[in-house]
Amino acid sequence: MTEDLERLQKEAEAELSASKTEEELFAFRTRYLGRKGILTGLLRNVANVAPEERPRFGKRCNEIKAALTGKIEKALLEMAFRKKDGELLKEKIDVTLPGRRVRHGRLHPITMVREEICRIFAGLGFAIVEGPEVEKDYYNFEALNIPKDHPARDMQDTFYVEDDIVLRTHTSPVQVRTMEKQRPPVRILSPGRVYRPDSDISHTPMFHQIEGLLVDRGITFGNLKGVLTSFLQQMFGEETALRFRPSFFPFTEPSAEVDIRCVMCNGAGCQVCGQSGWLEILGAGMVDPAVFENVGYDSEEVSGFAFGLGLERIAMLKYGISDIRLFFENDRRFLEQF
Ligand code: PHE
Repeated sequence: MTEDLERLQKEAEAELSASKTEEELFAFRTRYLGRKGILTGLLRNVANVAPEERPRFGKRCNEIKAALTGKIEKALLEMAFRKKDGELLKEKIDVTLPGRRVRHGRLHPITMVREEICRIFAGLGFAIVEGPEVEKDYYNFEALNIPKDHPARDMQDTFYVEDDIVLRTHTSPVQVRTMEKQRPPVRILSPGRVYRPDSDISHTPMFHQIEGLLVDRGITFGNLKGVLTSFLQQMFGEETALRFRPSFFPFTEPSAEVDIRCVMCNGAGCQVCGQSGWLEILGAGMVDPAVFENVGYDSEEVSGFAFGLGLERIAMLKYGISDIRLFFENDRRFLEQF
């Protein structure tokens, strides 16, 4: 009987080492160790064994069972490892291949110019404030000394949202909003979007302005000239020549338009400056007493200056861009040049 058992073990082990797939191993396990398997059957029929042999027989059966179980498990584990090795080999990474380039975004030229101007004025002690783009007629016009039916309204064609609500046509309303909230001294810079129904090579219905306002005791036109000269020379170079021309804005008196010597032809005259040698760069002036009155400032006590400039125009001059619409087409070939 025990000899039969030894033979059974040899056969089983031979069969086991011939099993090459998981399926074969599972089938093998069922055949020997399953509920109706050969070894299970032998143990169940232990009654047929002579009584004095039974303990030894039982023990051997259990030993064989344990041995086979162990070997099956080992074989299954090896198979799993081989499978994983194969997969890893297939997935191997060639670390010598060139990497994929990371494309990073850039700042829009308008953003760069805005940040540069804000930085220059921050250096002169100006605080940055912002105001709403959808604005009351009062702040955009009325409080700036532009009453309804005043011819000055024609200077700035306007998008109306409602009768008394407009898309702001300039950043000047922020002057009024700031002074309403704050007593002098005031020293602010206000960048933002503005809107006018214009569209051609040098106008877009939405564009960007920066407003400046400084109010304190004893501020003069000389201070205005000093601040703007310092700013424009930092922006366009130490050598930049400026020219102040008399002008008119309802909210400043006196008013001026400021030109810089043409950055393209250095004053010789070219297409960009219309042969004049000068480029108009901003509007400015001393705050009109009527505006002070609207915000409750005493114009006997304080005075101030304000200025406004268009960011697109500055960016066009700084980077030599000839069509304003390029800023808003989002063509990467254009934007990637800056
Ligand atoms: N708001 C004026 C414009 O848009 C510019 C300006 C601002 C002029 C402040 C004088 C003072 O044309």
